[in-house]
Amino acid sequence: MNELAALRGRRVVLGVTGGIAAYKAVEVCRQLVEAGAHVIPVLTSGAQKFIGALTFSALASEPARTELFGNKDDPIPHTRLGQSADLVIVAPATARFIGKYRAGISDDLLSATLLATRAPVLIAPAMHTEMWEHAAVQENLEVLRQRGVSIVNPESGRLAGGDYGEGRLANPAAIVLAAAKVMARGGDLSGLRVIVTAGGTREPIDPVRFLGNRSSGKMGHALAINAARRGAAVTLITTNPLSGPEETSRSISEIVSVVTAQEMYEAVLSRFSSADVVVMAAAVADFRPKVMSPEKIKRSLGAPEIYLEPTPDILAALVERRDRQVLVGFAAETQDVAEQAAEKLRSKGVDLMVANDVSQSDAGFEVDTNRVIVLDSAGGVENLPLQTKTALADVILDRILNLI
Ligand code: CTP
Repeated sequence: MNELAALRGRRVVLGVTGGIAAYKAVEVCRQLVEAGAHVIPVLTSGAQKFIGALTFSALASEPARTELFGNKDDPIPHTRLGQSADLVIVAPATARFIGKYRAGISDDLLSATLLATRAPVLIAPAMHTEMWEHAAVQENLEVLRQRGVSIVNPESGRLAGGDYGEGRLANPAAIVLAAAKVMARGGDLSGLRVIVTAGGTREPIDPVRFLGNRSSGKMGHALAINAARRGAAVTLITTNPLSGPEETSRSISEIVSVVTAQEMYEAVLSRFSSADVVVMAAAVADFRPKVMSPEKIKRSLGAPEIYLEPTPDILAALVERRDRQVLVGFAAETQDVAEQAAEKLRSKGVDLMVANDVSQSDAGFEVDTNRVIVLDSAGGVENLPLQTKTALADVILDRILNLI
C-alpha cells in the first residue's frame, strides 16, 4: 500500500515560521499536494522575511494566508482553519514559535489556528544547535509531546552561517511521511483494504432502455466514505457518481464506475484476492435480458417478448474463493425481514447480513435514513433504530471490526 495514502483528501494547514529553512517548506507543500492532500499554507511575518507567500500560493491548494485580521471575507480565519483542518503541520518551527505554542499565546494567524484546532499537530523544529539543545526548547517540546503533539526531530548537517551540527530541518520527505503516519494512526480501520459496492445495476434491453432498481447508492457511499475516514484503503465499485466535495472522493483510494451486474462482478472479482473486507451494499440485478437489441425497439412492432437469464451471483463467487476475507451482504426485503435475512445469511454463507425493509418510506432506497437489522453468522441479531445512513455506516463498520 502507498505509505502516503492516509494523506489523500485530507485538509492540511501547513504553518511556516521564520527561519532559513522556510524555503524547504515549499518542498513539503509540493509533496503534500502530490500525495493528494488539500494544503492551506499559513505564513508568519517572520516566514515572509525568508520566502514569499506567492510561492506557496502557486503550489498549494488554496492561496497562502498571512493575516489574523483585516480579511473582509473571512473575519475569523483561525477558527475556521482550525476547525476544518484534519492536520496542522508547522515546518519549520522556530524556537520562538515553539515557546509561544507551549505557552498558549495566540498573536498571529498560525498560533491562533493551533489553539483553535482539535486536529493532530505535527511540528518540525529547525534552529541552531545551541538553541536546539537549550533546556527551555527541550522542555517546551517535552510539554508539547505530552499534549499529544508529534515532533519530527531535526537532523545534523550544515546550518545557516556555515555552522555544522544538530538542528537542521528534517528532510521534506521525512516530514511528509511523518504526517501520513499521524493521519493513518487516527483510524481504527487503518491497514485494512475494503471493497464496497454501491447502487443498482442497469441491465440493457436496447440502447436506451434497461432493467433497473431504485437503489441510489447512498448507503454504500456512506460506508465507503466512513471507512476511508477511519483509515481503510477503500475501493468503491459503484453505479452512481459519488456526490459531495471533491475531497471526499479523493479520500477513497479507487473509484470504479460500473453499469451492469457483469461489470460489477468483474470489478469485484479482479480485486478480491488483495481485499480484507467486501461489503456488497449494491442492489445487483438478479436477472438480465438474454439478448440486448442492438437497435432501439420500435413501438410500432408491438410489445416485445423479453427473455431473461440470471446474472452472476457475486457474493456466491466470493464465498467460493474466500480465504481470510470478511464478507458482508445486504438484504432488501418487503416482508418478514428478520426471517428472510436469517435465511439469506445462512444460504449465502456471509459473515454479516444487513437487512432493510424497503417497503417503508424512511428506510432503504433513495432516502438519507435507514432502519436495519444486522445479523451475524454466530446467531447475533441486532435491531438498529432509524438513523442517518452516515451514522449507520459507522455502526456497520464497528460490527465488521469486531469480526476481524
Ligand atoms: N448479490 C450479489 N450478486 C447478485 C445479486 C445479489 O452479490 N447477482 C448480493 C447483493 O449485493 C446483496 C446480497 O447479494 O448483498 C443479497 O441481495 P438480494 O437481492 O437481497 O438477495 P437475492 O439473493 O437476490 O435474493 P432475493 O432477491 O430472492 O430476495
